Amino acid sequence: MSKQPECKIENGLIIAPKGLAGVVPDVTRISGVDPKGTATIYRGYTIDDIGEHASFYEAAHLILKGALPCEDELKEIKKKIDTYRGQVPEKIFDALKHARLAHPMYYGSYGVTLLGQYNAPYDWKFDEDFLYDHALKLIAQLPVIFTAGWHLAHNGTIIRPDPSLDHAKDVLRMILGKTPSDLEARAFESTLVLYMDHGFNASTFTVRVIASTLSDMYSAIAGGIGALKGPLHGGANEKALVMLLDAKEKAEKAGKPLEEYIEEYILDKLSRKEKIMGFGHRVYKVHDPRTDVAAKFIKQLPEGEYWLKVLHKAEEVMKREKNLPANIDLYTAILYYQLKIPIPMFTPIFAMGRIVGWTSHYIEQVLNNRIIRPSEKYVGPVGLKYAPLEERCKK
Ligand SMILES: CC(C)(COP(=O)(O)OP(=O)(O)OC[C@H]1O[C@@H](n2cnc3c(N)ncnc32)[C@H](O)[C@@H]1OP(=O)(O)O)[C@@H](O)C(=O)NCCC(=O)NCCS
Repeated sequence: MSKQPECKIENGLIIAPKGLAGVVPDVTRISGVDPKGTATIYRGYTIDDIGEHASFYEAAHLILKGALPCEDELKEIKKKIDTYRGQVPEKIFDALKHARLAHPMYYGSYGVTLLGQYNAPYDWKFDEDFLYDHALKLIAQLPVIFTAGWHLAHNGTIIRPDPSLDHAKDVLRMILGKTPSDLEARAFESTLVLYMDHGFNASTFTVRVIASTLSDMYSAIAGGIGALKGPLHGGANEKALVMLLDAKEKAEKAGKPLEEYIEEYILDKLSRKEKIMGFGHRVYKVHDPRTDVAAKFIKQLPEGEYWLKVLHKAEEVMKREKNLPANIDLYTAILYYQLKIPIPMFTPIFAMGRIVGWTSHYIEQVLNNRIIRPSEKYVGPVGLKYAPLEERCKK
């Protein structure tokens, strides 16, 4: 682990390091990184175990309820998610028909806010069963909103959910407009599981801050989607693919194989102080274990061996030059490319997985709440006096 920056105490206030690096604002029982900083833990299980073996429903039950489901619990969560997927209010599709062509993350935050208008009672409640039910509605309906917004903006059509299909397969079908194979659906499903939760990452922390004001779950999720959109967080997966495709095009022009050319491409970017998207992480300084699971699926999809060679070469260069590991977004970028998913839908897919974590953290926060309201250290001027406009800007 790298050396953590230290907090200072001034006038009884804790002055935290920039970006709250290494600061622990609360405890959680949902997920986190093991003390060595190399394994993600979902409710006691390692991510490589859950990411490779658990279905979306099993992992969602684990994250939300704290344990892998028994047979009747599995049937129940599957039935609810599949049913709710088919129950997005028609008026939301009507509203999305008026959305213009924009980044699809906007359809999510807009749609979730609309969903709150239809699904949430005026007097929001803090009863566990009530919250769990709304979590399942959000988990089921967010992908329908994203995909409807996307297709409506592009060609004015809606691909309706098919509750007879498993959640991940149906979501991928709604994205692609055709039913995927079992392998494609399973590879996609595993990425939803890998994205499901990750401690107090920026968007989850945003959700917890909003939850701590005792606002409703829909408002909190809309905030989480906004935080995820940024390229330093969820937006990195689409930027990583744009970068890899740019490298591929340049390699072809230079007549060199990409798995060789990627080295000079990265060195050139680093020499210009540019960031290499899909590398670096606030918590993982050595290795992001989620990449191993994604790699197993990449290998089974078209051109898998080729892309893994390219990724491994890029990792070797970044390790040597910056001592930075690849993160999950580099790997999902390629996996989604192999599945022929449109690039702007990459970050919405991250949200379709992470919504399980967001809703769980919302519940954990409100059931043991104290408003999250840090103090600031004001460093601006003091003692200024209001002057009327005519005197204010005299030269
Ligand atoms: C994830 C990320 C935001 C973490 O930020 P952080 O914890 O604040 O890490 P820092 O910015 O302190 O990084 C430490 C050093 O590595 C450099 N660095 C970090 N990520 C880098 C990257 N992807 N490419 C090149 N240099 C990078 C920083 O510039 C900094 O260098 P310096 O010490 O010379 O100033 C950062 O690594 C990043 O921007 N990565 C690219 C975006 C991405 O893939 N995000 C998805 C995360 S899952």
